[in-house]
Amino acid sequence: MPHDRDTLVAAARDAARGAYAPYSRFHVGAALGFADGSVVSGANVENASYGLALCAETSAVAKAMNEGRRGGLEAVAVVGGPDGRGGPVVTPCGRCRQVLNELADIGGTDPVIWCAGEDEVVETRLSDLLPRAFGPGNLA
Ligand code: THU
Repeated sequence: MPHDRDTLVAAARDAARGAYAPYSRFHVGAALGFADGSVVSGANVENASYGLALCAETSAVAKAMNEGRRGGLEAVAVVGGPDGRGGPVVTPCGRCRQVLNELADIGGTDPVIWCAGEDEVVETRLSDLLPRAFGPGNLA
């Protein structure tokens, strides 16, 4: 079932309300759309030890995989901004690209990524954000 861009971006915006970001005050939400129509979302979780912050996309992937998902990742929406307000388009950080790649790779998909800002959505693909990715196949 194909995912609708605006619906998935809205789910990411909603997820950002769950962010724990007292240090950066930059609230990020991510929503993962799966082939069966389900959506799993996450938000960033910071720590007093700053470098231990978990990004929204990584939180969402961990949640999805903890729930047993091992593929079917078709679409991802990411949105963020200071104090939960809108701002410029947010693209997944490098680590999150790699984390997303694991779930995509094991299911053989190349998810569309919708990076949302206050009044703009940039559409790309994981393979464009992370070309020539290192993945499970490298360990075979
Ligand atoms: N952050 C995310 O959640 N996802 C990204 O792709 C970029 C950055 C979070 C981490 C940190 O809590 C805050 O945004 C500021 O960097």
